[in-house]
Amino acid sequence: MNPIYLRLLVDIMGDQPVITALNKALAWELRAIAMYAHYSAYVSGIHRPHLSAYFSNEVNESITHASTVRSAIVKLDGEAITERAPEEIIHTHDYSIMLEEAYKTEKIASGTYQSILPMIEELGDDELYDSLEVIYFDEMRSVEELRMMLK
Ligand SMILES: [Fe+2]
Ligand SMILES: [Fe+2]
Repeated sequence: MNPIYLRLLVDIMGDQPVITALNKALAWELRAIAMYAHYSAYVSGIHRPHLSAYFSNEVNESITHASTVRSAIVKLDGEAITERAPEEIIHTHDYSIMLEEAYKTEKIASGTYQSILPMIEELGDDELYDSLEVIYFDEMRSVEELRMMLK
């Protein structure tokens, strides 16, 4: 799409639902960063070595996702939030509770991106669509990975 037209569209739409939806996704990424960093530090027992590394990897992935979503909000002239989603992060040393919490979080994340993609498609910005679709696929992979870990 013509960038000038896209800019005009953004101006007309102002504070549109897509910004709200992207901010919701960003808030969940910020929560995921806090949750996975916490679990990486506290995970205990025989599974600690690989789960600590797994959670730490999820921290890095969430930082990358947050950065992409923030850039999308900036591109659309919205204001990116700085607060994480308020849903409680359960403190535990028990890896099975951590995995259950991670599974719930990833399902919410994938659902959030699934609902965002059609809105971005409507904007006609292919670059933005591609970058958010990559995140959506990451979240879907995490859901499947955690489902297998919980079996
Ligand atoms: Fe993410
Ligand atoms: Fe994720």
